[in-house]
Amino acid sequence: MPITLRRARVEDAEAFAAHMGHPLVQPMLLRLPYTDAAVWRTRLGETLNASSDQLLLVAEIDGVFAGHGGLAPAGTQLRRRHVMGLGMAVAPEHWRRGVGNALMLGLLDWADRWAGVLRIELQVFTDNAPAIALYRRHGFEIEGTHRAYALRDGVYADVHAMARLNPQPPRPA
Ligand SMILES: CC(C)(COP(=O)(O)OP(=O)(O)OC[C@H]1O[C@@H](n2cnc3c(N)ncnc32)[C@H](O)[C@@H]1OP(=O)(O)O)[C@@H](O)C(=O)NCCC(=O)NCCS
Repeated sequence: MPITLRRARVEDAEAFAAHMGHPLVQPMLLRLPYTDAAVWRTRLGETLNASSDQLLLVAEIDGVFAGHGGLAPAGTQLRRRHVMGLGMAVAPEHWRRGVGNALMLGLLDWADRWAGVLRIELQVFTDNAPAIALYRRHGFEIEGTHRAYALRDGVYADVHAMARLNPQPPRPA
């Protein structure tokens, strides 16, 4: 089945709420339980208003929501304008079908070739082997480990800080 990518829309709020609240997805992100479509409608509205600064992509298989991936500025400081943070999640029923790869390729093309992003950074729980493998495959490296970084289901869990530098930064013509 071909995977298509498009920008997220406010109408995706229901799909985002179900997706981000899935018991196999929510613990791997920094989201809290009890996600809600109304909250996502507001959140998507705010995110999409800032669409020139960030990218939120939806992957679809046969027109059905299969996952999301996004890039957002790492901070507001002028000297960090070359840095963005990355997040993504694929709906569990579509794991291991190439959706994560497709989302990553879309995000990296936008970052490297259009948005002038030199450095992409992210945090990933140290026991999230599928995500770490996906990130390594696309050039991300572990830069360090934050201990007791986030509370996850009653346990303070460690995360790796990972980052990737654009291997072919843009040059003048
Ligand atoms: C991590 C995640 C995004 C991968 O998505 P996916 O669509 O299943 O990934 P793909 O099918 O495109 O696979 C891409 C690569 O990821 C790695 N990978 C994916 N699942 C894997 C698994 N179960 N074990 C080992 N490597 C895995 C592999 O390197 C794979 O490449 P390969 O198929 O050539 O071996 C998905 O498991 C997910 O959404 N997990 C829950 C949310 C999450 O952890 N988000 C990241 C938070 S930092």
